[in-house]
Amino acid sequence: MPKDFISLADYSTEQIRKLVDLAHDVKRNPRAYRDACEGQTLAMIFQKPSLRTRVSFQTGIYQLGGQGIYLGPTDIQLHRGETIADTAQVLARYVDGIMARVFAHSDVVELGVNASVPVINGLSDLLHPCQVLADLQTVSEKFGRLQGLKFAYIGDGNNMAHSILYGCAKVGMNVAVGHPHGYAPDPDVVTRTRELAALHGSAVQITADPMEAAADADIIYTDVWTSMGQEDEAKERLKRFEGFQVNANMMGAANPGAIFMHCLPAHRGEEVSADVIDGPQSVVFDQAENRLHAQKAIMISLMGRRH
Ligand code: CP
Ligand code: NVA
Repeated sequence: MPKDFISLADYSTEQIRKLVDLAHDVKRNPRAYRDACEGQTLAMIFQKPSLRTRVSFQTGIYQLGGQGIYLGPTDIQLHRGETIADTAQVLARYVDGIMARVFAHSDVVELGVNASVPVINGLSDLLHPCQVLADLQTVSEKFGRLQGLKFAYIGDGNNMAHSILYGCAKVGMNVAVGHPHGYAPDPDVVTRTRELAALHGSAVQITADPMEAAADADIIYTDVWTSMGQEDEAKERLKRFEGFQVNANMMGAANPGAIFMHCLPAHRGEEVSADVIDGPQSVVFDQAENRLHAQKAIMISLMGRRH
């Protein structure tokens, strides 16, 4: 395994499959791993708010026999000008792993370069790989496989879209992104995804027509229209994303057995209608639960002593 968990693009298909398999096992048999990170400490840097990431990491490391330390935006010296490099080197003298939620993706990369201990990306403006690992676990639970399924992401070409593109391409899922004009995924991420998809036999479709993306999909996924840090654009985005709501009509374009996914937090009536997110096709709380198991798998693999 690589030292850090910063992007799924850095992991081989085999390594991603191993993490998903371990996540399944951790979920089935948590007691088998209760001392996997015994006596270890995870520093958790948060420059943005969080419910799922914060609670699942803190609980997860505790369940593995270790402890988490929450370091909020004004708790450490980063906001007073201490460099990322110094922060990383100091933390590595105390702790066994660092999880970081940051604005600039380069910050989490720099933490990884400067810390001798594993660094886990708990969301950056570019990527959200922990979420997608939990999502792959969830899809694999629901369908019993990953390869060959069609995964449609509808909405903003944001950090979720990017990690979904990488994750799907790596495991041989066909992936479609339906985005409004002006909100396409990052072209470098799309280029890299196309290269990866060509290696693993999956199709990549990027379109401004959400119904085309949703057509015959096994998974329909969406995320908020305004991500953390974009609050000033919220009003404009509400207008620009009209027609991109995942509702019963859009779910109707997908395969009959399709599931609905959302990383949460959700805004009912914006990116998703209440009847869909609260309906029988929705698996959003399984996704949220699987953050715990998937991240325990990451910590066991990168920090654990005996697995
Ligand atoms: N999905 C997710 O990462 O949620 P939080 O922002 O609450 O951590
Ligand atoms: N795109 C969202 C994901 C939240 C988990 C954001 O960055 O705010």
